Amino acid sequence: MDRRAALAMTTGVFMVIAAALSLLAMSFSISLPKGNMKIIWKDSYRVGNETIDREHEAQFAMGNELLAAKDRASLTACAMNFYKHLRKHFEGEEKLMRELGFSDYLRHRESHNQLITLINGMSESIAADRWDPQSLHNVITIWTDHILHADSKLARYIDPHRPLDTQ
Ligand SMILES: [Fe+2]
Ligand SMILES: [Fe+2]
Repeated sequence: MDRRAALAMTTGVFMVIAAALSLLAMSFSISLPKGNMKIIWKDSYRVGNETIDREHEAQFAMGNELLAAKDRASLTACAMNFYKHLRKHFEGEEKLMRELGFSDYLRHRESHNQLITLINGMSESIAADRWDPQSLHNVITIWTDHILHADSKLARYIDPHRPLDTQ
């Protein structure tokens, strides 16, 4: 066999291996969360507005459903539920902030928009079989951080006597 034939054969073998690997990767492209992460609602997360607090508590339950989802269908349904609830909730918070003349309104709204963008991206990756559980963990971390910091700031605006420690 001359050099050119040997090279063509080697290239062919590599192409077959690459095709097999990509088929293998496609069949494992959805890796699901292990279900061992759980978020725990605490009374100290309350911001002092009955509607907001009730909605935050409901979102924790939805977040846990999302974390426990085991297949693409339930991931899609839970992500949609979470997304719809958050969107409505953010609109309510933004309305309240406008009514109160809350000074940090624009930054708070920007943080809501970023969260919606992140959840949109996560939903798209679920739909396109590019699901990465890390994206859910990122959303959960940023969203709970938002409640602890941005929403708590709003809580202190509603009630200035509220203690600063929300842990
Ligand atoms: Fe909130
Ligand atoms: Fe908020």
